[in-house]
Amino acid sequence: MLYINGAGSGDPEAYAIAELVDVPAFGEDSAALTFEHMARRCSSTTLHAALKGIAADESRHQLWLACLQQSLPLLTPDPEYKKRLRLFFRRLAHEDLQVHFARIFALDSAVCQLLGTVRSRCAPLAAAVNPVFAGIGRDEARHVGVARRAAGPLLGTSRGRDLVAEVREGLTHVLAHRANAFETLRVDPDRLFLRLRRMPQDGGGVGRLTLG
Ligand SMILES: [Fe+2]
Ligand SMILES: [Fe+2]
Repeated sequence: MLYINGAGSGDPEAYAIAELVDVPAFGEDSAALTFEHMARRCSSTTLHAALKGIAADESRHQLWLACLQQSLPLLTPDPEYKKRLRLFFRRLAHEDLQVHFARIFALDSAVCQLLGTVRSRCAPLAAAVNPVFAGIGRDEARHVGVARRAAGPLLGTSRGRDLVAEVREGLTHVLAHRANAFETLRVDPDRLFLRLRRMPQDGGGVGRLTLG
């Protein structure tokens, strides 16, 4: 097993990053399949192209994270946690595309916040971690824009805000299991979770995609 910058399995920062990378790595696979499935059943050409683009991005993220994981310490298997992660990501999917996109808006905007926070604390591992986090961050920021447009006015309603809050609450619950990893990277988990629970700014001024 290779470790970043020669770090061994005893390197707490490398292990912490491995623990944090494990969370999105688990979601990318199901995300790519879900977006492919949604693209197939969508009749709007614009949205179909957007969904296919997101599916391709998520497949690429899966690959990038898998490569990064090759350079990080192996985690102790935790089937119970895997079960919780699987449940969290599975619950994002919804037949109603606007609901689904409201949830994707909530999740991907939270991922952008997370990547930004963790990236700034990965200095010793920056050469391996930064290009991956920067690439994913760019794509996720684009997904936030697509999701915001596709969710349309729902995001401005109390139901939309509840959907966003539920996803972000759920995310902080699964991340709480990795609180020690944040502490190892000198990120205060309580403050981070508080920020993640806040309603993200929607930016406004972006047109709507037509759902079909
Ligand atoms: Fe992704
Ligand atoms: Fe995404």
